[in-house]
This record gives sequence, C-alpha cells and structure tokens, in this order.
Amino acid sequence: MKVVLITGASSGIGKELARQFAAHDYDLVLTARRETLLQELCEELRNEYRIQVDYFACDLAKDPKAVYDFCKEKGYTVSVLVNNAGYGDYGRFDESDLDKDLGMIELNNKALVALTYHCLNDMKKQGYGHILNTGSVASFIPGPYMAVYYATKAFVMSFSMALREELRKENIRVSVLCPAPTKSAFWEVANGETTAVYDNIFARTCEDAAKTGYEIFEKNKAYAIDGRVYRFMIGAARLMPIELAARAVGFIQSKTKHKS
Ligand SMILES: NC(=O)c1ccc[n+]([C@@H]2O[C@H](COP(=O)([O-])OP(=O)(O)OC[C@H]3O[C@@H](n4cnc5c(N)ncnc54)[C@H](OP(=O)(O)O)[C@@H]3O)[C@@H](O)[C@H]2O)c1
Repeated sequence: MKVVLITGASSGIGKELARQFAAHDYDLVLTARRETLLQELCEELRNEYRIQVDYFACDLAKDPKAVYDFCKEKGYTVSVLVNNAGYGDYGRFDESDLDKDLGMIELNNKALVALTYHCLNDMKKQGYGHILNTGSVASFIPGPYMAVYYATKAFVMSFSMALREELRKENIRVSVLCPAPTKSAFWEVANGETTAVYDNIFARTCEDAAKTGYEIFEKNKAYAIDGRVYRFMIGAARLMPIELAARAVGFIQSKTKHKS
C-alpha cells in the first residue's frame, strides 16, 4: 500500500498536514514520540475520511530508520515523505543548553537526511515520489538569538534544492514549506513565547501553514513562504548584505513582550 509518511504529526503543523492529506484521500503513516496523540489523530481521521491511517511512535533523533523499518514490515511503500518534525530554542548561543542544540541538529537535519535517503531508494523503484520538507522563513537568513535553529533550517533548504535538481528528471519531487512564525507548541518548546517575533498580529495558524504546504505539494513548487507579510519581509531581507540582515533579525528577535 502506498502511503504518505508524516513526521511530527502529533501536534501543530504536522497534525494539520495530516488533515490536509487525509482530506485529499491519501493513506497515511504518522509518526512522533507521543503515542496517545498519534492514536487520537488516527481515530479522528479514520472516522472522518475513507482512508487507512497507521502510526508509529518513536524518537526520530535517536533512531530515524525505525519508522522506515516499520513501514517495510507492514508492507507500506512511502510515496510521499513529509519531513516536518523539528524544534528550536530561543536565547543567546553562549548561554544555551548545548545538548538541546545538538539534539536539534540530530532531529532537524540528521533524521531528515536519513529518512530521505531510505525512502528515496523506494521512490526510485516506484518511479515516483515527493519529499516535502518543512523549512522555515529561517531558511533564508541568519537568526541571532536562535542561531542554531536558523542554521538547521538553512541546511534544510540547501539540501532540498540540491536534491530537487539531482532528481529533476526522475519524477521524484522535492519541495520546502517555509512557515512564518505560527501559533503552535513550537514556541513553548523553544522558550520563546514572549518574543515579539512570535507574539504579534501577523502570526499564522497551523492550518494556514499546512494549506500552503499541501498547495506546493500539489503544484510541485520548489518552496513557498506561508503568509504575504512574511514573503515581503524575507524578500526585503534577502536584498540586504547578509550581515545587515542578521542585524535586522537580531533586532527583531531581541524584543520580548513580558507578561505578568
Ligand atoms: N511554529 C512556528 O512558528 C514554525 C515556524 C517555522 C517553521 N516551523 C517548523 O515546523 C515544524 C513543525 O513545528 P510546529 O510549529 O508544528 O511545532 P510543534 O507543534 O511543537 O510540533 C513539533 C512536532 O515534532 C515532533 N517531534 C519533536 N521532537 C521529536 C523527536 N525527537 N522525534 C520525533 N518527533 C519529534 C513533535 O512530536 P512529539 O513531541 O510527540 O515527539 C511534534 O509533533 C518544525 O520543523 C518547525 O521547525 C515552525
């Protein structure tokens, strides 16, 4: 059975991406660490749509191949891989938790590369595949006060666009969804709930981001930034010398709204 494998499907953008693919009749395999949330989402989607949904709970940072092995054992062939799981951390690098930074690289980059590698071999045998990676507006600019996170997302964009070119003639597509600051648990995990970059009127919803993700999947676009305001802001930042863009992002990201 051909499936869409979605990582980070237990909450936020990944959960909404699962709803988008389900609404378009795709059979799914969902993965993340929190089993109960995956179970609940599976039940919801099975009740609402006529699709097959399965889940596999695992820590992708520790063992990125486990979910691929699960698919193999169950006879699922991944024709669409959505590498969405990820997290960030807010604050100065020299004051950060190094284990959290390194774990971020393991999840945002290493797991994404490993899963892509394994699924790609099957996609080549099928003669079709689509890899939809979740990048970020952070994919385009350096991000003081989230330095490692922004660098992981720049990696996602660079890797994805190189792969898209390598696979251009093989009917295997690669796209990058670039969400703007979006209301999800991401900011709680990143300790950044009081930052002005997140807590502002332009913040997007997970549904907005997932709809943009599904659209670039359907239209086979290389990438898309979710939200007109952010498309404009990133466009402007990319015209600046990189050190000036870093200064501007650093200025915005240093602002916090202290709540009592
Ligand atoms: N929210 C934003 O403002 C924003 C902006 C740009 C890009 N993004 C990107 O969008 C993606 C989704 O984030 P989100 O906003 O939806 O945040 P979220 O609600 O916190 O979702 C993160 C997902 O990743 C999973 N995950 C975290 N660590 C994992 C691990 N070690 N192994 C397996 N799964 C793991 C989480 O599930 P478990 O905890 O159950 O494992 C969860 O399903 C991320 O790649 C993020 O970088 C978010």
